[in-house]
Amino acid sequence: MSNVRTSTVPTIDLNDGHAIPQLGFGVFQIPPGDTASAVSVALEAGYRHIDTAEMYGNEQGVGEAVRASGLDRADVYITSKLNNGFHRPDDARRAFAQTLVELETDYVDLFLIHWPLPTLYDGDYVSTWKTLEEFQRDGRARSIGVSNFQVEHLERLAECDVVPAVNQIELHPYFGNSEVDAYDRAHGIATEAWAPIAQGKVLDDPVLNEIAGRIGKSPAQVALRWHIQRGNIVFPKSTTPARIKENFELFDFELEPDDIEKIDALDRGEAGRNGPNPDTMAYVPG
Ligand SMILES: NC(=O)c1ccc[n+]([C@@H]2O[C@H](COP(=O)([O-])OP(=O)(O)OC[C@H]3O[C@@H](n4cnc5c(N)ncnc54)[C@H](OP(=O)(O)O)[C@@H]3O)[C@@H](O)[C@H]2O)c1
Repeated sequence: MSNVRTSTVPTIDLNDGHAIPQLGFGVFQIPPGDTASAVSVALEAGYRHIDTAEMYGNEQGVGEAVRASGLDRADVYITSKLNNGFHRPDDARRAFAQTLVELETDYVDLFLIHWPLPTLYDGDYVSTWKTLEEFQRDGRARSIGVSNFQVEHLERLAECDVVPAVNQIELHPYFGNSEVDAYDRAHGIATEAWAPIAQGKVLDDPVLNEIAGRIGKSPAQVALRWHIQRGNIVFPKSTTPARIKENFELFDFELEPDDIEKIDALDRGEAGRNGPNPDTMAYVPG
């Protein structure tokens, strides 16, 4: 690959001794046929962390782009997630093996339970979690974590051997998800913020636009920099090459504390949630 840059992205230390690049590239809703080219643009721009999932149907495109980049596998951090239909231990084992086939790799850096699905499987996400512990023990998942877990779901995992390394939750200026985020922080679980720009919905916000205009950055960069300064791990998605590059340019400026406070004040609490509520989310792809 031409123009490989030394990464400017800081890492966050996880509770299991591994480290994760704080900024990555998300591939939710990128059609499978477009994924390899989008990920190639991201790798060329300098991203070294890709967030995919079995449910996105595009793990194969991620693997293809990583191999085509010529980068060492060890230099790209890859996350995938267990599909909602595969929470039973034997299904999870098969699904995880297939994830490695799709990505054409021997291991993932991070594997997550995508949703807790408390209304399905008799509410038993604990045996699902114990199955992910197996994947970590045998080395095929360097780190394991959860996604969309509420406080009561995290509390149920207290009987298990491993504390999740991360909890990937919806979090953006309109939805601080503060109760879950506070629980994560108090228990050594790193918060990953999905939909960091609320799938574009925060970009017309007057406060973000005022700050952006004043400091000469875009509203997306201001929102993403706010995440970075809060210590969140983020992986904005775009299929637009100019935006993929723009979203990577977050490390040559800093927001003033006053501006951070103004963005904190945009939190609408539960009304700001854009995606499904994890307490009732029960979608299983057909
Ligand atoms: N664990 C979960 O349940 C879960 C759920 C949702 C998402 N995620 C993860 O989080 C990642 C990010 O979330 P997301 O994809 O839902 O939403 P997002 O990153 O907040 O927003 C993506 C949208 O914003 C647009 N966009 C991106 N950068 C922009 C910029 N600089 N200026 C203007 N518009 C811009 C994109 O448009 P274009 O593509 O047209 O440029 C796309 O429509 C996902 O890809 C996935 O990896 C996880």
